[in-house]
Amino acid sequence: MNANRPQPSPHLPLGDRRDAPFYGRDILEVAQFRRADLSHIFGVAREMREMVLRVGSFDLLKGKILASLFYEPSTRTASSFTAAMERLGGSVIPISEVRYSSVSKGESLPDTVRTLECYADVIVLRHPEVGAAKLAAKYARKPIINAGDGVGEHPTQALLDLFTIIEEAGRIDGLTVTLLGDLKNGRTVHSLARLLSMYDVKLNFVSPESLAFPEKILRELDEKGIAWEAHTELEAVLPRSDVLYVTRVQKERFSDPAHYARVKDAYVISPETLTHARPRMVLMHPLPRVGEITMEVDNDPRAAYFRQMEYGMYVRMALLAMVLGKA
Ligand code: ASP
Ligand code: CP
Repeated sequence: MNANRPQPSPHLPLGDRRDAPFYGRDILEVAQFRRADLSHIFGVAREMREMVLRVGSFDLLKGKILASLFYEPSTRTASSFTAAMERLGGSVIPISEVRYSSVSKGESLPDTVRTLECYADVIVLRHPEVGAAKLAAKYARKPIINAGDGVGEHPTQALLDLFTIIEEAGRIDGLTVTLLGDLKNGRTVHSLARLLSMYDVKLNFVSPESLAFPEKILRELDEKGIAWEAHTELEAVLPRSDVLYVTRVQKERFSDPAHYARVKDAYVISPETLTHARPRMVLMHPLPRVGEITMEVDNDPRAAYFRQMEYGMYVRMALLAMVLGKA
């Protein structure tokens, strides 16, 4: 968002909440949130769930338009933002295959967002480069929501992950959360660990040595006094985990296919694995999975990854309503 963004009008129609803290703001990284913000977002997400279960869709964002701009593949993020917008009565400009847009003619990211904001009220952006959402926000007058910037962050995923933990485990404080898999390249765990560090949690990082969690974020955790351990074997920490968050080895980030082949099957969660886990452990995955959790696990009540996707739509409804000044 740049400084030329119009300021909220002092004469608001009844029901508008343009004085609300998120009105007109970009959502770029989790560091912009405080604990009070998170409680507020989750409260609105619960209200959204109530409304969806009661009436399916309603007209809170009628007349508003979302531009959904994806330079990388997506199933969940793109479709849940679309569903969120449509359930709120708004509409969507979908650009999910930038190959067929003027990006393929060489149009830059700043020009692309400055085009879309002529037509839309908010832009959701996924891009392969770290910092792309920040760059877009520098040029855009309308709010930019980061839907994943390379190996950087995926803030709306982290919000829905945290919401999932609260809804499934009933709390965050006091929990031991284990993050497993490609912790180097997985943007969801980068954002999630940062969000979790606002709470009283213990974190375990389990990965092959070559896919270890970034040092920079570990130092941030140290500064916040978060207790963490790093391991290469899940067995070391599984029995004392309240949450196990599994990630996919991010094939698209590897320059050496032989390296990918060596690590891609490093961890596979099966029903046998879960015999060593707590009876109420919450098993999560941002998805897509490509073998890290076998399908035999899906019916275990601890498998929360399908419910996690649904929580995501309510969180994204809340974010859209808040950013557009209606919640
Ligand atoms: N869908 C998530 C992301 O885009 C996780 C993944 O792709 O493995 O970051
Ligand atoms: N979790 C997630 O971001 O999924 P998609 O890549 O399918 O959007």
